[in-house]
Amino acid sequence: MNLQVVIGKLKLKNPVMAASGTFGFGREYGEYIDLNQLGAIVVKGLTVKPKEGNPPPRVYETPCGMLNSVGLQNPGVDAFIEKELPFLRDYDVAVIVNIAGETIEEFAYMAKKLDIDGVDGIEINVSCPNVKKGGMAFGINPEDIFNITKEVKKVTQKTVIVKLTPNVTDIGVCAKAAEDGGADAVSLINTIAGMAIDIDTRKPVFKNVIAGLSGPAIKPIALRMVYEAVRAVKIPVIGMGGISSFKDALEFMIAGAKAVAIGTCNFVNPNCTIEVIEGIRQYMVLNNIEDINEIIGSLKVD
Ligand code: DOR
Repeated sequence: MNLQVVIGKLKLKNPVMAASGTFGFGREYGEYIDLNQLGAIVVKGLTVKPKEGNPPPRVYETPCGMLNSVGLQNPGVDAFIEKELPFLRDYDVAVIVNIAGETIEEFAYMAKKLDIDGVDGIEINVSCPNVKKGGMAFGINPEDIFNITKEVKKVTQKTVIVKLTPNVTDIGVCAKAAEDGGADAVSLINTIAGMAIDIDTRKPVFKNVIAGLSGPAIKPIALRMVYEAVRAVKIPVIGMGGISSFKDALEFMIAGAKAVAIGTCNFVNPNCTIEVIEGIRQYMVLNNIEDINEIIGSLKVD
């Protein structure tokens, strides 16, 4: 049985990744599961300098999903290379590094620094809804997506993935901008801009007012957007948004996603990624499917 999928220069042993921001840099997550079993891991978004993130509260649960306003807390690109990357190098798993610059130059600066052994891919984060500079402000502007991707591609040999925001009216245009800029793949969706209000104080729950919604609530939206992105570009699309079972993952792949990423579910069930891989395997056995690539884009529309 073949579970391998190819994304740019990356040959993933299976199409299931852990999404950025849902397991830090792998250490904590590595205590729960065998990281070697994953197709890839995408590490927490990095910035040029260490970043403290937003004031608390940073997460808030709703009956249908989770809101976060983490604000890209991270130790900075240098500390990642020095302290975190050596740990990941010991694993036989593709490492994709999410970078979140505040300017085009910052994206290029980080991508260049990360063009080193142990890093397999770069995920350009133009979709964080929780920062005042950069983030989603870039991702809603196709010209910015194009320019950032182009500059990053100039300085790295690694596979370049652009992580898109769902907070746009036409995801196809954004995916195409990434493709035109030279991206090897796009990944979507990042979180949907939302908010919550404390009715006693009548204040927004989050200091930033807006936060990112994730979890099962966003799955149908994510699936629709992946479907649209697949139709807009020729490069691979990595699907994510509310995946919590192998059935969810298969929906994304049937819609055309070449790989999927699991995010919020990791907090609920740390074994989720492994269960999804196992579930896909069993589905393939039951349905006599030899190659995972037969499933990708197999949607039957009358
Ligand atoms: O919802 C998100 N939260 N998306 C990101 O890209 C980053 C993260 C954060 O740190 O706020």
